[in-house]
Amino acid sequence: MARLYSKKLFVLCVCLSASFFLIITLQVLMELSHFERKQEDHNYKPKQTIQAANPWTPIGRPGDPSSQYPVIVWWSPLTGETGRLGECGEYRCFFTINKTYHGHPSTQAFLFYGTDFNVDSLPLPRGVHHHWALFHEESPKNNYKLFHEPVVALFNHTATFSRFSHLPLTTQYLESLEVLTSHTHLVPLSRKNLLRASLAPVVYVQSDCDPPSDRDAFVRQLMKYIPVDSYGQCLHNKELPAYLRDSTTMEEPGFYKILAQYKFTLAFENAVCDDYITEKLWRPLKLGVVPVYYGAPNIRTWLPAEMSAVVVSPNESPEKLAELLKELDGDDEEYEAYLGWKYRREVTNQNLVAEMRRRRWGIQDVTKDSHIDVFECIVCARVWENINRQEKGLAPKTWRAEGNHLTCPPPRTFDFAVGPTSRSSLRGFWRPSFEQSKKEARALRLFAQRNANFTVEEFWKQVFRN
Ligand SMILES: *[C@@H]1O[C@H](CO)[C@@H](O)[C@H](O)[C@H]1NC(C)=O
Ligand SMILES: *[C@@H]1O[C@H](CO)[C@@H](O)[C@H](O)[C@H]1NC(C)=O
Ligand SMILES: *[C@@H]1O[C@H](CO)[C@@H](O)[C@H](O)[C@H]1NC(C)=O
Repeated sequence: MARLYSKKLFVLCVCLSASFFLIITLQVLMELSHFERKQEDHNYKPKQTIQAANPWTPIGRPGDPSSQYPVIVWWSPLTGETGRLGECGEYRCFFTINKTYHGHPSTQAFLFYGTDFNVDSLPLPRGVHHHWALFHEESPKNNYKLFHEPVVALFNHTATFSRFSHLPLTTQYLESLEVLTSHTHLVPLSRKNLLRASLAPVVYVQSDCDPPSDRDAFVRQLMKYIPVDSYGQCLHNKELPAYLRDSTTMEEPGFYKILAQYKFTLAFENAVCDDYITEKLWRPLKLGVVPVYYGAPNIRTWLPAEMSAVVVSPNESPEKLAELLKELDGDDEEYEAYLGWKYRREVTNQNLVAEMRRRRWGIQDVTKDSHIDVFECIVCARVWENINRQEKGLAPKTWRAEGNHLTCPPPRTFDFAVGPTSRSSLRGFWRPSFEQSKKEARALRLFAQRNANFTVEEFWKQVFRN
């Protein structure tokens, strides 16, 4: 009887794990397709490359094995390059997405793209000299298990949105300070006031509904107190002109033109983590529209000027916010106080200025390397640093990712709204998903420490153990 019961329990467990797995797979698939679209936007083109047929050609000192090029394997097919000799200043490394290099003696490092960092294939066993490097600039919702110390600490090098990572990508959606101060799209307030006859004071454009930040619950409530024109799929109430309806990008001039007519844009991130800042903030700032920002709790570290956005706190009441926005809508002087920096073309936040000067990579800028190129080269240089130390008989240097290189507090929903916002709503999904990801992180850590490859079944069994 007890055996039968435990058997039933086991079947139940397997079913549960299977459905969890399905949900997660589904999520990953969704994100992957999202990622592919993003890659198209990125227009990633490797620079300074030499196509190498044979990576083992020794450089300089024939016969000396350590003078061969170190191999760095992208464990996600991010770059699509099956083999490329990358030039990183004085260093060269052979970059490939070909996983058969896992056991090759020249393989020194593995690069992972966070969104497809998956348990079903990891380069285990990991050699003592194997560097692991994590590139993850996307939202935590794409892979929560990475956001816990047990997993973060597996990596030696990081490029994430966190300002603490080895290559901080916090400003990855901001091309330059010049686009912020530019008046190209700015609509004069007198014109905005006239347009108010046909437009709401606030615009919202979002098609990724019910993300972990619970923004749609907030906006739904806000709409009860102030008119909001919503062009996206979430809380949709206004149509784009026909010629823009098929547009796949929100960076089209026609689209900019529409958005620039508004006084306020709801710039609500899909997740609430320090330093996680997207184009949702920068776009209105570029256009001369005041962002009503909800997202990174430390956003004031990054705003171009103190009075450049209306910052929404997690405990804000939508009704109170609506009151403030209506007040600003009715008082030109008060409203324009938020655009003073723009009118003066002045970014006063020295932290932002310093970061933009320090940044070695560019966005769709042919004169600069991409953040991916720069990260590859950081890893290549560090690999060489240890090769050189070894030649001199010195102990290798170690690098380690800290918990704060990738972290985000648990997602929380707004108290004033209960229940799902629609039948297909994911609103109730994020918190349990986050809690479960902690278990996944611990299981992953355990398997990584055992240093033998494992099956997906073994992984989920470990996750659901007690
Ligand atoms: C991967 O590398 C191996 C040699 O290590 C080679 O035989 C194979 O053709 C490569 N695969 C691809 C897709 O380039
Ligand atoms: C990389 O990280 C692992 C795990 O923390 C560590 O054992 C190893 O020494 C590190 N290697 C380097 C080159 O930093
Ligand atoms: C371990 O890795 C090898 C090669 O990557 C693979 O063929 C094998 O199926 C893996 N074993 C398990 C238990 O996953």
